[in-house]
Amino acid sequence: MILKFKNKAIFYQVSGAGKPVVMLHGFLESSRIWDDFLPEFSKYGQVLTLDLPGHGQSECIQEVHSMELMAETVHGVLKAIGVKKADFVGHSMGGYVALAFLELYPDMVNSIMLLNSTPTEDSEEKKEIRERSIEVVKKNKQAYISMAISNLLTPKHNELFSKEVEQLKETAYDLPAEGIIAALKGMKIRTNKTAVLAAFTGGKIIVAGKEDPIMDIQDIKKLAIETGAFFVSLPGGHLSYMESREAFANLCISSKK
Ligand code: MLT
Repeated sequence: MILKFKNKAIFYQVSGAGKPVVMLHGFLESSRIWDDFLPEFSKYGQVLTLDLPGHGQSECIQEVHSMELMAETVHGVLKAIGVKKADFVGHSMGGYVALAFLELYPDMVNSIMLLNSTPTEDSEEKKEIRERSIEVVKKNKQAYISMAISNLLTPKHNELFSKEVEQLKETAYDLPAEGIIAALKGMKIRTNKTAVLAAFTGGKIIVAGKEDPIMDIQDIKKLAIETGAFFVSLPGGHLSYMESREAFANLCISSKK
């Protein structure tokens, strides 16, 4: 379905009925990463998936897609379908968006799962990498996407999950360069949400990949302790929903029961 938000088309899907869960994809992904889970998850409640601005079938809204703007978009969709409070699962950038949502609309969050994500802001080094990435996207979007997605997994898992990784890349190649750049700029300026997560009294889980090439598991574990979140480590890298599919699905389902 399509919602007009700030005059732009935002694609979303609702499956099942009952207690709602909002599932937010990461950078260069789309809501399609959750499609495979919908038949199972919708047995336990209502599942809302959407394409964040500039991703999948959703249009770009502006030059910078801050995590707050993306959270406002999620809020617009929830309002349109009449959801007042939900559980949130956010993969990587989707986790940054879930945390921005928590800060903006705390009464609408029942629980939060950060999957391969962090409440912290970008380091100075990471901010420079974002700037360089923007230049690469402008010159050769396809090469950037291929490299950025391959970098999320170990070489071994790139091989083991080559079919899934290829599919992810194929979908991402269709993204407009302006959407990729708007998200890179938005991630670069995001603020530290550690205190927001620590103050949150609802359910909170942080799930990390033991071999995540872009997020150090020990740092994430420390953040989980600091924020009082339940910490789970899974085999594999940055794409736990793909690399540890069953364990991730079981975590989602057991938190629903
Ligand atoms: C993602 O997977 O959403 C991004 O890699 C996160 C990031 O670049 O910080």
